Amino acid sequence: MENPKILSLNALSKRFGSVVANDAVSLDLHRGEVLALLGENGAGKTTLMNMLFGHYLPDSGSVEVLQDGVMTPLQLGHPQAALAAGIGMVHQHFTLALNLTTFDNVVLGSEPLFSWRRNRAAARAKLLAIMEQSGLVAPLDTPVGQLSVGERQRVEILKALYRDARILVLDEPTAVLTPQEADTLFENVATMTQNGLAVIFISHKLREVLAFSNRIAVLRHGQKVGEIATKDADERVIARMMVGADTPVTARETMSPGTPMLTLKDVSVQGQSKRDSLSRASFSVHSHEILGIAGVSGNGQSALAGLVSGLMRPDRGTVSVGGTEISRPNPLTMITAGVGRIPEDRHHDGIVGAMTVAENMVIERLNDADIQTRGLLNRDAIQANADRLTKDYDVRGPGSDAAARLLSGGNIQKLILARVFDQTPRLILANQPTRGLDMGAAAEVGRRLLEARKRGAGVLLISEDLDEILGLADRIMVIHDGQLSELTTRDREEIGLSMAGEHA
Ligand SMILES: Nc1ncnc2c1ncn2[C@@H]1O[C@H](COP(=O)(O)OP(=O)(O)OP(=O)(O)O)[C@@H](O)[C@H]1O
Ligand SMILES: [Mg+2]
Repeated sequence: MENPKILSLNALSKRFGSVVANDAVSLDLHRGEVLALLGENGAGKTTLMNMLFGHYLPDSGSVEVLQDGVMTPLQLGHPQAALAAGIGMVHQHFTLALNLTTFDNVVLGSEPLFSWRRNRAAARAKLLAIMEQSGLVAPLDTPVGQLSVGERQRVEILKALYRDARILVLDEPTAVLTPQEADTLFENVATMTQNGLAVIFISHKLREVLAFSNRIAVLRHGQKVGEIATKDADERVIARMMVGADTPVTARETMSPGTPMLTLKDVSVQGQSKRDSLSRASFSVHSHEILGIAGVSGNGQSALAGLVSGLMRPDRGTVSVGGTEISRPNPLTMITAGVGRIPEDRHHDGIVGAMTVAENMVIERLNDADIQTRGLLNRDAIQANADRLTKDYDVRGPGSDAAARLLSGGNIQKLILARVFDQTPRLILANQPTRGLDMGAAAEVGRRLLEARKRGAGVLLISEDLDEILGLADRIMVIHDGQLSELTTRDREEIGLSMAGEHA
């Protein structure tokens, strides 16, 4: 017997100017169910959830939530009403106060300050009970800024559960998690749904969707194009529902490596914590070569990326680009030396959200003669550049004169990719380049990286996605605890062991 329905979205529509983000989308959710919401970048998934949560007011349509046994209309456009109805949301980008502790973050805002002071003990007891029941554990009295990404996410979920959520929305919850953290999350989700919670989760990772959801709903260009029970689905079926066609696969041609494009000689850096330190790294990335760096995040990847993008300086050793040692590395000297970078944290390091899409597309070359003459920006050139890149790289959204922060997560990544690939850099630092991208867009990134390699660029590919590394890299190194080691094997299992620090 099917569990009772607890939520229905009825023909919700939302436009942003000329963009139809949602077009009469209807969806039901049942108690204890895990519903996966899929669709290409910009299909309208986050928008739909934002309407459910009251962040956006729909242009039309309604939402009903089960309350005291009756389906009751939800007041739209009011997050407080959604919270009161038991709807909780964990966003694609976390919303925690980093200087406050877990406890304060969870409790803050749900209790008036005055009574909260008096009821700290009761609040603590409630939170501990929720941790126990859900299996979600995070250190209570540590400032959230000191927690790992996985722990921060648990805090976000705890925050929703503390507010008695019966419906939990997770927007790309595993995009920022290590494979182990993702497994833990899904174990926790299973426990929570057994206790009656209903979950909607958005993901681009078909493998986890197939493993952990009960039902799948697919959006395409703002419309719901289908729904399927997970037991009846496989990767191909879903891919076809999402894009209406099969995704092409690019084959990797054999190529002989050329001269070194990037060389690290005995480089060490001591970052703020062990997570961003690197010890005595030596390697080269050559022209016509993709070097893959496999590893669980937090093992020194950020130090490596920081060095290559000029954000960190080596404490010992040297970094050379194209055979020339960079004596004073900073972001500008690295860009000038020919390094193009696809940063891991695209919102923070990749774009300036308040500037337009067109401006962000030239942000790393504002001093170029075609962009700027005698201190004046050449608006026509910037616009022409934006028109070309938007088309070539399929950046979808509200248009090139809109603020970049209004793009969907995946389209922000496409903007960055367009900016990098268009400059034909001799070295490309690709740090988690397909994170948050839909299948088609991810395949496109692979194609572009291979194209750059063919043209003669060297690529340093840092990724947690082993399939991505195995599919693209000519050579593989594993990073663990700040140490790099070259692999001779391409065996998944063996690479996995090296990633965990168990050297053969
Ligand atoms: N506040 C806004 N103003 C203007 N356009 C917006 C706004 N929010 C979303 N959009 C546009 O609506 C469309 C749907 O965006 P949405 O964020 O819902 O996509 P998504 O399916 O979540 O994509 P992704 O997988 O990349 O996260 C996109 O074209 C996006 O640029
Ligand atoms: Mg989204």
